[in-house]
Amino acid sequence: MNISTSFRINYICLTAAVGGILFGFDTAVISGAINLVKAQYLLGSILEGWLVSSGLAGCIFGVILTGFLSDKIGRKKTMILAGSMFFLSGMACAFAGSMPLLIAGRIIGGAGVGMASVVSPMYIAEFAPAEKRGRMIALYQLAITIGILLAYFSNALFISFSKNDFNEAGFTWFFKDETWRPMFLAMSFPSLIFLFMMIKIPESPRWLVSVNRTKKAAEILALIRPPAQAAKELEDIENASRKSFINKTSLLDKSVRLPLIIGIVLAVLQQFSGINAIIYYGPSIFKSAGIADDNALVFQVILGAVNLLFTFVAIRFADKYGRKSLLVAGLTGIIFSLIASGYLFYTGNTHNLWLLVFIISFIACFAFSLGPITWILINEIFPTAVRVKAVAICTLSLWVAVWIVGQFFPWILEKAGPATTFWIFALFSVINLFFSLRVVKETKGKSLEEMEAVFFAPH
Ligand code: BGC
Repeated sequence: MNISTSFRINYICLTAAVGGILFGFDTAVISGAINLVKAQYLLGSILEGWLVSSGLAGCIFGVILTGFLSDKIGRKKTMILAGSMFFLSGMACAFAGSMPLLIAGRIIGGAGVGMASVVSPMYIAEFAPAEKRGRMIALYQLAITIGILLAYFSNALFISFSKNDFNEAGFTWFFKDETWRPMFLAMSFPSLIFLFMMIKIPESPRWLVSVNRTKKAAEILALIRPPAQAAKELEDIENASRKSFINKTSLLDKSVRLPLIIGIVLAVLQQFSGINAIIYYGPSIFKSAGIADDNALVFQVILGAVNLLFTFVAIRFADKYGRKSLLVAGLTGIIFSLIASGYLFYTGNTHNLWLLVFIISFIACFAFSLGPITWILINEIFPTAVRVKAVAICTLSLWVAVWIVGQFFPWILEKAGPATTFWIFALFSVINLFFSLRVVKETKGKSLEEMEAVFFAPH
């Protein structure tokens, strides 16, 4: 592959990955803004719950919409729509004059997250050369972690900014009295960058073939692959598309059943490892364990940075050692860290650095395994004819699982205590480990058109 070909493909995949930054930013920004909004509007627990879950409700709507839309209007236009929603949501939340408007803004942003979480990694999967696909989808996970960290930093920046004196400038209400407004507004800038970068990217050749625009698909493939490879790939895509058409491949097909089970189970169990509970409640867990003082941000940044850094392990090794070995290694570390953290709580031995060590090792193991590999597998295991719908179903399961953990984690923590809560997460990860060993198939190096043979070969 010559330099300009590989530059083009990197640019294309990087642009789609920026959708991950918006995903991470939007889901994390609320953690800093919620207390400020709550104090200003004197929110009761019902409205507070609404404000937090409105993002998720939007998300679920966005995923379903993408399932129907992306096959009709294509991947690129769907991503542009997602980017516009992020932009609109940032503006709407920043200038909302009332709670209902703020909630509407959050729903729009959530819809953007939902759409981006289906279409961005799928677009990358459809573009990346087979031997680099793992690494390129892992870039999307990296972008999520960057987005989370950016939101922490920008929230902290506006908090410290709010301590300035704005009397002269006339921005007091915006930056000082209602600091949550610039926190939300900050999301509009990466959205604009995302939209701007998208001008130059082409439509997915696999989608083009599926809507009979083969000539255009050939032109695009010629730009991103060496000539012989481009011709072979086009032929494979056309053959697979013809086969799907003749067989009328649908979601109910036997050949789609196993990939669908794998995608849904991995998506749900990714969330039942407790990742979001630990990322967002981590600092208060440290505080109640007596390790941290009030400075939650420092701990949030430490966890966020570990999450980001260890994603590079997956970027480096997902295509070399394969998806399964990373999953198995990471899950083993996750289970050990969760059991050990639970044990520290169980024995009341939390006032030392071991808790910090185990929680950091949990995040590190998640970052090189469950985080990226779940997204990689969901996006590469389905035939093009049903890919969007199947990916949407798996992603929807993931968001429903996010909701379940968000709803029940505080309740279980209160009723059963932290030790049992950590062990419940460990139990789900044990199930995931067995599932990964016994049911998940290795997909490294296979082209998307070869997947059917991986999942449906008469062994
Ligand atoms: C998960 C998100 C999580 C993030 C943390 C992603 O793979 O789907 O729920 O917040 O990783 O890095």
